[in-house]
Amino acid sequence: MSESVHVVVMAAGLGTRMRSSKAKVLHEAGGLTMAELIVRQALRLVAPQHIRVIVGHQAEEVQRVLSPYGVQFALQAQQMGTGHAVLCTREFLEHQPGQLLIINGDCPLLRAETLQALLEAASPAEVAGAILTTVLDDATGYGRIVRDDRDALLAIVEEKSANPKQKQIREINTGIYCFRAATFWPALAQVRPDNPAREYYLTDVVGILHREGRTLLPSVVADPREVLGVNNRVELAAADAILRERTVTALMLHGVTIEKPSTVTVDADVQVEADTVIEAFAQLRGKTRIGAECRIGAGALLRNVVLADGCQVQPYCVLEDTAVGQSSRIGPFARLRGGNQLGAHVHVGNFVELKKTTMADGAKANHLAYLGDSAIGANTNVGAGTITCNYDGQHKHHTQIGDGCFIGSNSTLVAPLTVGANSYVAAGSVITHEVPSNALAFGRARQAVKEDGAELVRRKAASKDG
Ligand code: UD1
Ligand code: CA
Repeated sequence: MSESVHVVVMAAGLGTRMRSSKAKVLHEAGGLTMAELIVRQALRLVAPQHIRVIVGHQAEEVQRVLSPYGVQFALQAQQMGTGHAVLCTREFLEHQPGQLLIINGDCPLLRAETLQALLEAASPAEVAGAILTTVLDDATGYGRIVRDDRDALLAIVEEKSANPKQKQIREINTGIYCFRAATFWPALAQVRPDNPAREYYLTDVVGILHREGRTLLPSVVADPREVLGVNNRVELAAADAILRERTVTALMLHGVTIEKPSTVTVDADVQVEADTVIEAFAQLRGKTRIGAECRIGAGALLRNVVLADGCQVQPYCVLEDTAVGQSSRIGPFARLRGGNQLGAHVHVGNFVELKKTTMADGAKANHLAYLGDSAIGANTNVGAGTITCNYDGQHKHHTQIGDGCFIGSNSTLVAPLTVGANSYVAAGSVITHEVPSNALAFGRARQAVKEDGAELVRRKAASKDG
């Protein structure tokens, strides 16, 4: 790139039409905030120290969300319009030569390729800049592009200021601009809030530059969907759907089978390897990473989960912050809360809940169990209905079960507790003391049997009736 480029992202507005207490750019589409979506595209063009984000509404939260990206900020304490917003960056950028790429913070579908095309359109030394425009069937709400009969840009007219003839123009301002810095800053200083909204419109710069005899070129985007501005939650949902479609399409082209892709929700940073199958209505969220040849069942929800190759998560499981070793089988209807670490060939069956639990290779808990704050050894089998009593009302305690154990069904394991390797716990036991290795532990009342007792009971009942 011959000229230096500075990017300005406008992200200070509340976004009244969202009807939210949250600043507009903090709303998410495709699994990322709108602020991050724009910054990520800008980072494909310039270094983070060349990106300046204008913050205002919930400035601290916007800065927190963007802090991992290393970008710069400028504060617009009071929101007096897009022209005023850019003025808030003047102290940092006025003396920077080159091109100034200004982006509305509410166009989450924008791609770096399109920004690159805009930079190129604005690159001839004799032009003052270029404006990204597009043509809509219904242009209501957008600033309209007014051209003269030789197609030069005369002005951008906002909806509120447009006359009936201008309202019929279908070419609109996308809110994405590239200006040559040297001519831009003096023009911006001339903008006045003389419009029905009493705001400083950045778009007025276009008319000012034209009157000064400068040339601005339009750069038309072919697919208007890419520059969809999000002003309300209906538009947010539309943007979300398009971003998610992009994500699942990329996964399918990468070798992942997705059944009924429009029903599947995959966040932007999720990775899935080839030959994995994702069934309908599955949701893969956060930083989830799935290996090759896995199967994610219908309706399963995985958030920040790492699955090694060959795992099966059967329908309707909910997994969070959990790592699973290769060829393991989870579900259906299992719930893995945070902090679990499962080895290879582990089975976790229906209605099993895990929390902060490790299960070594080959361990199994196939039905109806709660294992919390526990470590289960390799090849140990945890029977149906087993409960770790990890909470005494005040503190959480740990349960340690060695390798090769057999925990009988409906056992109650009162923590803190250790069960040594290769031990048996009899079904229905309440275990409160350490079980050494190779032991058999009973913790239940002894069964008594009375021969012919049933007949005795029946006779007693009959005599009462009579
Ligand atoms: C703006 C354009 C309009 C264009 C449309 C494209 C102006 C005057 N109008 O209108 O021509 O068709 O975008 O989507 O620019 N912001 C601030 N500080 C402010 C005001 C806004 O940072 O004082 C930020 C907002 O957070 C938002 C962006 O600027 O990210 C655009 O503001 P918005 O109010 O949505 O502008 P539109 O009315 O959509
Ligand atoms: Ca907007």
